[in-house]
Amino acid sequence: MEPSTAPAPVAVPTRRHYLMCRPEHFDVTYAINPWMDPAAGADARRAVAQWEALREAYLGLGHEVSLIEPVPGLPDMVFAANGGLVVGGRAYGARFTHPERRAEGPAYMDWFRRNGFPDVLEPAHTNEGEGDFLTLDRVILAGTGFRTDLAAHQEAQEFLGRPVVTLRLVDPRFYHLDTALFPLDGENVAYYPGAFSPGSRAVLERLFPDALIASERDAAVLGLNAVSDGLNVVVNAEAGDLIAALRRLGRTPVPVDLSELRKAGGGPKCCTLELRPAAALP
Ligand code: ARG
Repeated sequence: MEPSTAPAPVAVPTRRHYLMCRPEHFDVTYAINPWMDPAAGADARRAVAQWEALREAYLGLGHEVSLIEPVPGLPDMVFAANGGLVVGGRAYGARFTHPERRAEGPAYMDWFRRNGFPDVLEPAHTNEGEGDFLTLDRVILAGTGFRTDLAAHQEAQEFLGRPVVTLRLVDPRFYHLDTALFPLDGENVAYYPGAFSPGSRAVLERLFPDALIASERDAAVLGLNAVSDGLNVVVNAEAGDLIAALRRLGRTPVPVDLSELRKAGGGPKCCTLELRPAAALP
C-alpha cells in the first residue's frame, strides 16, 4: 500500500487589492465594544504612524492599496473591513448596528460606485461587511450574535451567489467574526474556538478538520484579526504562539504593531477591505 500521508500543499500567495482609510480622525469617543474606553481616548498621530506601517507592509508584499477619504466625526472609519463585502466585482453594502457608525455605510457604497464597482446592493438588513463576512473559495463564513443580522446572511448569499455559512459568536470581546477567525488561504482557516457557540464550533470542525486552532492568549491580543494572501500573514506582533504556529505551517508571518487601533477593538484585518474583481472568481 502507498503511504497515506500526503505532503502538505505548498502555500502560494496571490496579489490582492485592498481598500484602506487613513485614521486621521481616529479617537475613542464612544464605547460599542468591550475594548473601547472613551475616558482613556486614543492618539490619532500614533494610530496614523502604525497604520502607515501596515499599508507599507501590504505594498512591500506586492499588493495594491486604494484609499477612501476619511470623514471627520467618524472616528471608526479606519476600520474599512466594516464598509462592505466585495466578491466577484459585486459590492454588498454595510448597514451599521450602532448610530455612531451609521454614516460610514453610504460613504463606502459611494466609493464603490465611483471606483469601478457600480454593482452595489444597498442592504435591507444590518451587517458590518467583512467584519462579519469572510470569503473562502467555496463558501463565505458569516458571523452573527453581536452585529450582523441573520437575515443579512441570506441577503448576501442571494446577491453574491455564494453559499453563506452562519456562525454564532458568543464572547463580547470577539464581537465580529474577523476578531476570532481568519482564512489562511481559500480553503482553510485559523480560529479561536471559545468565541463560538457549541453548534458553530462543530460546524467549523466539520468544514475545517485541519484548521489552525489558536489559544485565548492569541485571541486576546486580536491575533486572529489577521490578513493572509495565501502565504504571507499580516498579524499583530503580540500574538507570539500564533506566529510560531504559522511558521511551523510553512506560512510567512508579517508582524505589525497596531496597539493604538486596538484601543477601539481593531487590528490589521479591521483596517483592510478586500476588493475582489469579477475576473478573480475561481
Ligand atoms: N470600534 C469599532 C467597532 O466596534 C471597531 C471595528 C473593528 N472592525 C472589525 N472588522 N472587527 O465597530
